[in-house]
Amino acid sequence: MTDTPLGLYVHWPYCARICPYCDFNVYRARGDDSALFDALLADLAYWAGELLGRKLTSLHFGGGTPSLLKPEQIGRIVQAADRFFGFECDAEIGLEANPNDAAGFRGFSDAGINRLSLGVQSFDDDALKALGRDHDGAASRMALEAALSCFARVSIDVIYAREGQTAASWASELSDVLALGVSHLSLYQLTIEPGTAFFKRVERGEIKPPGDALGERLYRTTQALCQEAGFLSYEISNHAKPGAESRHNRLYWEGADWIGIGPGAHGRIGSHALGGRRAVDTALRPADYIRRVSETGTGSKSEKLSALDEVRERILMGLRIDTGLDLAQLEQVTGLTVDEDEAARYLAQGWLTQNGTQLRLTGEGRLLADGLAAALCP
Ligand SMILES: C[S@@+](CC[C@H](N)C(=O)[O-])C[C@H]1O[C@@H](n2cnc3c(N)ncnc32)[C@H](O)[C@@H]1O
Ligand code: SF4
Repeated sequence: MTDTPLGLYVHWPYCARICPYCDFNVYRARGDDSALFDALLADLAYWAGELLGRKLTSLHFGGGTPSLLKPEQIGRIVQAADRFFGFECDAEIGLEANPNDAAGFRGFSDAGINRLSLGVQSFDDDALKALGRDHDGAASRMALEAALSCFARVSIDVIYAREGQTAASWASELSDVLALGVSHLSLYQLTIEPGTAFFKRVERGEIKPPGDALGERLYRTTQALCQEAGFLSYEISNHAKPGAESRHNRLYWEGADWIGIGPGAHGRIGSHALGGRRAVDTALRPADYIRRVSETGTGSKSEKLSALDEVRERILMGLRIDTGLDLAQLEQVTGLTVDEDEAARYLAQGWLTQNGTQLRLTGEGRLLADGLAAALCP
């Protein structure tokens, strides 16, 4: 038996409308979702059989738009997770919600959700229109008020580095956001992903998002203002008042275990030291996922990662967070460690710091996070 924390991620892939920048595994909602809902419950039962005796430290409903589920459906999944696994005390049970679904917030809270992350993206009508969102600034504000009255823990998602944004306009917008009274902010730079409508519009020259230099200025503005307002930038895009960090997301960054159910969900279980880390992937399309569950009992397939793949992942994820990468633990669970020459070079450059066995990125290092993580791989 392991004492590694265990999380459960439930992916609900449907959205009322597909946003032009989004490349998550999403599909337009069409009404009857009962077959997918039943498949989720069956997949959950499969995993309970695989991981007998382990309790959940967190459950997260992501998407897509899981706030399109009825509170009663959310309640049934929370209850099934409790029956099959049980929750550790203080377990985080989170839901991603769109502002248009605010009418369900009280019901979600009654169904067991104790943390809501609200995808407001902006409070500005023009910005929301440019992002192709199906709500305006007033709806963002009303949904936030409803969320704060229903949940003790509320986070909001905001997208910046939008076309036309300057460091001064973002600083003013972010100052307003920081004054709203939420304890957690996910602040994402707009990325232009291949296959999205925005990608085609950028290719055609119809929109021109900020270049790298402005992106870097906007990032520095974000870090400085969050710090001034008492938010810890505990991950590259995530900022929280002390104690308000997302416990579920920490599982990913700290290389703990999690199950993923629903179309396109991923999971990771175990480690090299415990006989191998399993990478779990599910069928992407809802119809394929439902078929796979009915044929095999689970929508997932899993394969063992090599020790090298495992160490790569752990370096990439561990360097994203404020606590950093624990080198002693890395070696203990994978049998490998970082490239020591590269680490020494980046320590001398001021991109990394080391305290005991903890290796962390500095503020400057965070600007180069992915490249540094790749170079540190053995
Ligand atoms: C998978 S979405 C789920 C939230 C919910 N469906 C919504 O849109 O409000 C999670 C978050 O990812 C962010 N996101 C999605 N695509 C992005 C992109 N291309 N660039 C930056 N952020 C993005 C948005 O802030 C969004 O709230
Ligand atoms: S941003 Fe949210 S609502 Fe928009 S398509 Fe992506 S998951 Fe769906």
